[in-house]
Amino acid sequence: TWKLDDFANAAIETIRAQVGDKRVICGLSGGVDSSVVAALLYKAIGPQLSCILVDNGLLRKNEQQLVINEFSSHFKTDLRVVNAENQFLADLAGIDEPQEKRRRIGHAFIECFKAEAEKIEDAHFLAQGTLYPDVIESGADKDGPAATIKLHHNVGGLPEELGFELIEPLRDLFKDEVRRLGLELGLPEQLVWRHPFPGPGLAVRCLGEVTRDKLVVLREADAIVVDEIEKAGLYRDTSQAFAVLLPVQSVGVMGDARTYDNAVAVRCVNTDDFMTADWSHLPYDLLAQISTRIINEVKGVNRVCYDISSKPPATIEWE
Ligand code: XMP
Repeated sequence: TWKLDDFANAAIETIRAQVGDKRVICGLSGGVDSSVVAALLYKAIGPQLSCILVDNGLLRKNEQQLVINEFSSHFKTDLRVVNAENQFLADLAGIDEPQEKRRRIGHAFIECFKAEAEKIEDAHFLAQGTLYPDVIESGADKDGPAATIKLHHNVGGLPEELGFELIEPLRDLFKDEVRRLGLELGLPEQLVWRHPFPGPGLAVRCLGEVTRDKLVVLREADAIVVDEIEKAGLYRDTSQAFAVLLPVQSVGVMGDARTYDNAVAVRCVNTDDFMTADWSHLPYDLLAQISTRIINEVKGVNRVCYDISSKPPATIEWE
């Protein structure tokens, strides 16, 4: 059995030998895998690393700031934040079909990333947070049925398109090992234990057409879901917990007045592999608290539902 500090030291040596004096680009998403890759590279080659965060306007509340705090303030990496909200929202205007939304987000991401990467003239390598299960999966069922259910747009295709040499320092690791390595490298627990978040972000949780106004509502509701789950001490016991903004208005009453406002669904699941999942059997008191807070604090929402569908036949995300 090998130890992780041995792994970190060995990985750092391997990276230094492979990279030499060349520059490495690393895309950051706010997720665990890309964060661990960036932290590892920073330890290995420091100033030869440039990180890019494309803020597509579809991130969760305070997510951009979390990445900046970690990689610009704590680790002093050369972090370039691309504020591309306007471009993504323009590309999504009028589009309500889920696959088309994913396709457009994927395209816009590659465009933005490429434009930023081209500004880094001496870049030679592109680092990716590919894990061992990704390596197996891409060989086994790349074009299998799962690929056709939802278009996943994680940076596959980017290195070839940009002409970079690929560097994948996590490709021998499982997720739990990546988390331990992240802690070893000094990343905060909050980041290392974060629930997975899909590449297309809040767009696949904002059903139908995505607009700035809807995203504001969804982002606030989502932050309340996560906050209450954390306060209840259940964040690590759930695999994912988030809000979905439904394209539905319903009648309510506030004081003496009739309201006609949005409905939010709360989705919490438990899963080992994300291929199958059960809805989380959360305590009623917690559900009540989530509902009360969303309805009281989020303007434009008068109804909260809890999603009690397992996967299959439902998927974890709604789009
Ligand atoms: P579904 O909705 O297919 O999701 O049950 C399974 C897991 O994958 C995540 N997911 C994505 N992750 N890019 C990603 O990186 C994507 O396009 C994407 N779509 C879904 C989802 O959050 C869940 O963890």
